[in-house]
Amino acid sequence: MSTSVEHSPVVQRDDDASIVVRGGGPLSGTVEVPGAKNSVLKLMAATILCDGAFELTNVPDIADVAIMGDLLAAIGVDMVRPAAGEVVLDNTGRITPVAPFELVERIRASINVLGPLLARCGEVRLSMPGGDDFGARPIDMHVAGLEAMGAEFTFADGDLEARADRLHGADITFDFPSVGATENLMTAAVLADGVTTIDNAAREPEIIDLCEFLVAMGARIDGIGTSTLRIEGVTSAELAPVRHRTVPDRIQAATYLAACCVAGGEIDVVGARGDHMAMLLDRFGDMGLELTTSDSGIHVAARGRSRSIDVATLPYPGIATDYKPLIITMLAVADGVGIVTENLYPGRFRYVEELQRLGADVRTSGHHAVVRGVARLSGAPVRAHDIRAGAAMVVAGLAAEGETRISGVHHIDRGYDDLVGRLRSVGAAIDRT
Ligand code: EPU
Repeated sequence: MSTSVEHSPVVQRDDDASIVVRGGGPLSGTVEVPGAKNSVLKLMAATILCDGAFELTNVPDIADVAIMGDLLAAIGVDMVRPAAGEVVLDNTGRITPVAPFELVERIRASINVLGPLLARCGEVRLSMPGGDDFGARPIDMHVAGLEAMGAEFTFADGDLEARADRLHGADITFDFPSVGATENLMTAAVLADGVTTIDNAAREPEIIDLCEFLVAMGARIDGIGTSTLRIEGVTSAELAPVRHRTVPDRIQAATYLAACCVAGGEIDVVGARGDHMAMLLDRFGDMGLELTTSDSGIHVAARGRSRSIDVATLPYPGIATDYKPLIITMLAVADGVGIVTENLYPGRFRYVEELQRLGADVRTSGHHAVVRGVARLSGAPVRAHDIRAGAAMVVAGLAAEGETRISGVHHIDRGYDDLVGRLRSVGAAIDRT
């Protein structure tokens, strides 16, 4: 295997930036929701599977897309941006199955190149992926699934190497519906010999988006949107590049609903897919938000103080763990006591300390948080520890008297496309410095 990688420019982080929120609201107007980070990064990785120029639309302008673009450029897929919200990914056919550490360590989704590279090249060398700092995030299910398909793995010095002359179909049953493992095995199975079934597969809207992208390319996948996926392998020559619109980002959409909840007012979240957020919208309704979904998006009205609820995070169609920092922030100023249970990442409560600095009454015990609502938070300097926690700090700033200054903004930039501009456009008093 070649170990030399030509490095494309590594994306720089805006480490010094802060976001300053001075309360604001009631909100009014329209915000448009861009495409989902957790879909587009996987669509980008899947372009490794065949030669040619792919066009993706509704692409969010976020740092992770740029990092994935650099990673793919190092592998042999060149990315250009012909217009806002669009990227063209040109798979040159000269693929180097080596993913450089300095890019892989920055995003969890870099693991998504594993399946396509192994299926296409029969070998891959990859550093262990990075991403957010909320606890260990193993890849044992990815590895076990690919081993069942004929791959052999070795691990040394933080790198993994995998080889398989040709992957073959296998029957795989997950203990847990892992999003990343479902995606990796599915994209590998597209080019494997024979049929692969994945039982207890994840079925998030972003997985469906990837399935539809692969099917449009010529992959044979049955059971899309269910817990059992059946993939019949084809050859790379039977696949062709496609143009595809990225599914809207349900987490960004939820962020604007949460902002409206704590600031009050009435906004249209255009492009949001209510059907992808059904359980969350139900619970937001229980909190007192007035929600109307239509083909064009979600209309939300927040009149008066919301009510507390109890919530547990679960794989889709349950309440996503990525919504949780927003929910805890909403509960921090709701009427009553709410209990939030985290079932995916036990360590994902680090931002609670930051909320406490703003005067929130939140206590954590193991994977539970007890949130006793207060009428108003009070502004203070806080830190974004990861993408979702960072967005929650911005929402908390809208619920606070005085000034809230959020540092660690590069985390927010990884997943949010102009959060500040969008919130300002609906009346929030918010700036980036
Ligand atoms: N897990 C294992 N072994 C595996 C795979 C997963 O133990 O081989 C565990 C993880 O450690 C974790 C749980 O299973 O405790 C969930 O992992 P999953 O594989 O489902 O998540 P992921 O693919 O690593 C994606 C999103 C996350 C989101 C989760 C859950 C991307 C790039 N990331 O991660 O999004 O929280 O699904 O929905 O798609 C974010 O966008 O901020 C973010 C963290």
